[in-house]
Amino acid sequence: MLLDISFEKAAAGVDALAVGLRPGLIFQPSAKLPGLEQALALKHRFKGEEGDVLPVLTPSGWVVAVGLDAEEDQDDLSLRRIGSNLFAELCDGGIEHLALRLDLSPEDAAELAYGMALRAWKPSGKYRSKPDPDEQWSLTKATLLTDDPKAAAERFARLSAVAEASVFARDLVVAPANELTPQMFAERLEGLFSLGVSIEILDAKALAKQGLNLLLAVGKGSAHPPLLAVLRWNGGPKGEAPLAFVGKGITFDTGGLCIKGEEDMDEMKGDMGGAATVAGLIRLLARRKAAVNAVGVLAIAENMVSGTAQRPGDVVSGFNGMTVEVVDTDAEGRLVLADALAWTAKSCKPSLMVDLATLTGAVETALGKKRAGLFCNDDGLADKLFEAGEAEEELLWRLPLVDLYDDDLKSLIADIRSCSWDDLAPDHLHAARFLEHFVPKGLPWAHLDIAGTSEAGDEEDGDEPVSGPGPTAFGIRLLDRLIEDMAEEEEEE
Ligand code: BES
Ligand code: MN
Ligand code: ZN
Repeated sequence: MLLDISFEKAAAGVDALAVGLRPGLIFQPSAKLPGLEQALALKHRFKGEEGDVLPVLTPSGWVVAVGLDAEEDQDDLSLRRIGSNLFAELCDGGIEHLALRLDLSPEDAAELAYGMALRAWKPSGKYRSKPDPDEQWSLTKATLLTDDPKAAAERFARLSAVAEASVFARDLVVAPANELTPQMFAERLEGLFSLGVSIEILDAKALAKQGLNLLLAVGKGSAHPPLLAVLRWNGGPKGEAPLAFVGKGITFDTGGLCIKGEEDMDEMKGDMGGAATVAGLIRLLARRKAAVNAVGVLAIAENMVSGTAQRPGDVVSGFNGMTVEVVDTDAEGRLVLADALAWTAKSCKPSLMVDLATLTGAVETALGKKRAGLFCNDDGLADKLFEAGEAEEELLWRLPLVDLYDDDLKSLIADIRSCSWDDLAPDHLHAARFLEHFVPKGLPWAHLDIAGTSEAGDEEDGDEPVSGPGPTAFGIRLLDRLIEDMAEEEEEE
């Protein structure tokens, strides 16, 4: 992790001390902070509200006033946002070691530190020939002062495992496609082995043998063959059906022969955000030794243009035996997911299945960058996912998975079409409905279309409130919460 976070009763050798202030607070002159009240009075725009960060030079050194908001408004989410914003404000201001005396409970201090940890990510710099000094953060160490460092550290251990998993996923998403071919993606998963995750790779030969022809068809045009990576974490009772998570892992999406325009192509190294989240989630479950059985299935391929690429109009028979007419080669995600879902249902016999995919531009048009599309064949699961999303500020919005548009997917020659010919069609709804054909009836399944939320907007659009700019690792927090909520429910029963 780029920021070293610890909890102590006291700290020495710090460059600045952050103190927490709430709105309406009358500042008591304090022997430890002479001059603070005057400084704040001069800069009386400091209101002590969430998001306020004001460094002041006092006779005893730098003090950073941090707005904590009114006590009654404070919850875990606001504490995380405050931590995140504090890090963003201070990371390159020259302070190296920051102590924080915020007068929060140990648990609340841990939540605030979690916000800092989630924000403290940036591309590693390993793709530069030499380090860029402007890119270095000054802030490398944060010490949170608390009466009960042990309690705070215990709470933080659980949270920092989540932050680490999201760093892992974000590093994958930001990796350029020439540094993350399908094979290289598989190699980067090997590190999970030492955490107790078993890894099975179905290479192109195995895919052909087992009949995952849709995944193969998408990868056909690339010099780097496709693969299916299967990550298993068995922390639960032996023989209990696993929870399955399936991710779209297109390492680069040119669109194939239905090639994208250059403006649409430049972000497409990130078209494996779903697979990155699934890998991060399995890593997290292993790190926190979660008492569940889980399987993560990553459908990894590169969608390229070449003499061996699939054509629009090709008919391909998928793993579940259905034949698909490939209408537009740029609708590749639903093809690889179709095979991955059908394979997972049959080979892993899960009790539920959730897939994540940067699937359609249409979902971003519909919901923007703040909510992902939720499609689900089970109301109970949909409610749980929605609530987990609200609780973790990874927001979802349920969209219809209904037969309304089924006619658009009727093919003249095959069992189904991959998408509609009509540009004005609601493609996110079509895509979800298409996927449903590859999920066995009766298996609770949800599809999260994260095309809008997998990467945050630029500063103008507004960053993601906690993780900041760049890849968000969307879904790790919410799915971890879902798994924990379900485990708790089971305990109560
Ligand atoms: N990977 C894209 C979807 C996407 C778009 C993700 C923007 C992130 C940001 C997907 O494979 C795609 O190309 N979808 C097409 C589907 C169409 C051809 C039916 C799209 O959305 O235009
Ligand atoms: Mn595409
Ligand atoms: Zn794609």
